[in-house]
Amino acid sequence: MECVSNIHTIQTLVGNYKSSGLRVGFVPTMGALHEGHLSLIAKAQEQSDRVVVSIFVNPSQFNNAEDLAAYPRTLERDKALLEQYGVDVLFTPKTEEFYPEGYQTWIEVSSLSTLLEGAFRPGHFTGVATVVCKLFHAVPADVACFGEKDFQQLALIRQMVSDLHMPIDIVGCPTIRSDAGLALSSRNSRLSEAGKTQALVLSQAMKEVIHAYHKGERDTQALLHLGQQQLDSEAGYTSEYFVVVNDRSLVEESECHEHSRILVAGYVEGVRLIDNASICGIINQSKETSASNVQA
Ligand code: PAF
Repeated sequence: MECVSNIHTIQTLVGNYKSSGLRVGFVPTMGALHEGHLSLIAKAQEQSDRVVVSIFVNPSQFNNAEDLAAYPRTLERDKALLEQYGVDVLFTPKTEEFYPEGYQTWIEVSSLSTLLEGAFRPGHFTGVATVVCKLFHAVPADVACFGEKDFQQLALIRQMVSDLHMPIDIVGCPTIRSDAGLALSSRNSRLSEAGKTQALVLSQAMKEVIHAYHKGERDTQALLHLGQQQLDSEAGYTSEYFVVVNDRSLVEESECHEHSRILVAGYVEGVRLIDNASICGIINQSKETSASNVQA
């Protein structure tokens, strides 16, 4: 595996791959890799001839300095995993080169940036859109894979790529879960075993809603009430939002349908957790399968 930090070097390397007729896949990450990332890498490998993974803990998407400082950093372990999984190139940009003194350019995806996660984390999505745009310029790949776990992020990236005519295919990949149903996230490493058990309430609340939807309930408020009761039953959980929205606009509607998506966010042991599922999907023990994926 080649390890590259310099932007010009990675641009040249990817350019050379492409001019030799090779299709390049890209998986942007912030490291602390887990099975969810490995599933994105497997998808990128399926879709391309060479795979680049980036690891960059992007300061501009953290609206809270403590959260940035606490973000897990496990570079040596990550490198070994990437080697083991046959990744061709690891790109680890330097903060000084990505955001030099005097840096001024930011990407705003207007409405999608301000809803839900955006309302609770001001500036977060400007940081995400900007860094993903910069990463796509540094790594001009043919296809990039992102997890559905960060559902709003995926919608925002699709919107940016479409609005800015970026020549890259975006592939969304299903959320990977622990056997008990907890969506895998780098942040889970900050939870105790008891916290991981308490955190199951997010997927349990979504299961309540999905179950009632399958039984015929379509009224959004009635469905949310059932899930909210489940969330309220867990004393260790502090809720931020629990909504059912249209999976394209991310706007709430009074009636649910096959394009409705459940999104949930809250805290366990001071760790902010998010999860989501299609209302007509199935949350399996170890894997979520969704009947309706977001469209490009
Ligand atoms: O999902 C993430 O890990 C990050 O938000 C991303 C897309 C790598 C941008 O920093």
